[in-house]
Amino acid sequence: MTEHIDLNPQTLAITAGRPEVAPDSGLNAPISLNATYVAGGPIGYGRYGNETWSALESAISALEGGMTLAFSSGMAAIGSVFSLLPVGAVVVASDQGYSGVMALLNSLDANGKIDVRFVNVAKTDEVLAALAGAAFLWLESPTNPSLTVADLPRLISAAKAQSCGVGVDNTFATPLIQQPLLMGADVVAHSVTKFLSGHSDVVLGSLSTNDPALYSRLSETRKIGGAIPGPFESWLALRGLRTFPLRFERAQSNAMTIAQRLEGHPKVAKVNYPGLASNEYHDRAKGFMKGFGAVLSFTLHGGAEESDRVCEAANVITHATSLGGIESLWERRRRWQGESPLVPESLIRLSVGCENVEDLWRDIDQALENA
Ligand SMILES: Cc1ncc(COP(=O)(O)O)c(C=O)c1O
Repeated sequence: MTEHIDLNPQTLAITAGRPEVAPDSGLNAPISLNATYVAGGPIGYGRYGNETWSALESAISALEGGMTLAFSSGMAAIGSVFSLLPVGAVVVASDQGYSGVMALLNSLDANGKIDVRFVNVAKTDEVLAALAGAAFLWLESPTNPSLTVADLPRLISAAKAQSCGVGVDNTFATPLIQQPLLMGADVVAHSVTKFLSGHSDVVLGSLSTNDPALYSRLSETRKIGGAIPGPFESWLALRGLRTFPLRFERAQSNAMTIAQRLEGHPKVAKVNYPGLASNEYHDRAKGFMKGFGAVLSFTLHGGAEESDRVCEAANVITHATSLGGIESLWERRRRWQGESPLVPESLIRLSVGCENVEDLWRDIDQALENA
């Protein structure tokens, strides 16, 4: 495999995770459909390793840093991190992060496995106060779906200074604009389902870490727990990853234009996008992020029913959950029972895709008018 040290992410996404260059070797990693391997090699069995997973893992490692393990979903990856904590460990986590993670933490807490302190991760003092005696800090930034921004460099170093482990869900920001391992985080998680694979056709997750001991514990957890990615899904994700920087840069620029226009729309009450100069997290985000991402959310003066009608009224944007695909998606987040009650009822999350931005804006504008 090529050495990646001084290449930029736009290049790494294309060059990493390729087979050795040799006469007649394929350009692309093969889809290795094997439940078992001839004895004597480093893999041994299809739940222990797979050449296609390895190719995807080395490409994510090239972008995010550290060593990567792919999992069957983002939640499988994140669940594996929490499974390593000793019974009774105190975990500090966001009170309005991704609802699936909150549900997992609530259930681990209710079953007496861990003790969760939910905090507003954007409020640095609140997080610092909650860290006393904590074993692990789980950060998501920007948060899903309110796009609040945590002061990652400050919180990560404060936690590490008191020997508290730190994990960061980097799904929204992606390694293109934020690399938490370089800030000292122990582990970075992705829902690879989203921007990294980018075509809404696979569900996959990953964990990256610089710590060899943590890597081997997580690898053992995947091997024993069996939350392994499928070879075909890994191949699709790697194929999607080749265009990830291109897609992300285009989607991010579309998101900025749409956020600015939404801000001036009379039906819109508030736009959440850290790229807006008016946004309360703009200066903080500019301090350590290289961009503002391609997901935004907004609330309407008209309330939940009007938001539902707006989502239904689109022709170009699809009314569906998820994010990070090449196509734009939106939904009212509180339509899901598990969403945090801190999220306003009318909040619409918009994952901005790579379509022509004027087509997107016309669609949004007509949906707001017609709803
Ligand atoms: C921020 C974030 N983290 C994790 C997940 C879970 O990932 P997956 O759906 O791949 O299990 C999601 C899914 O929406 C997410 O938005």
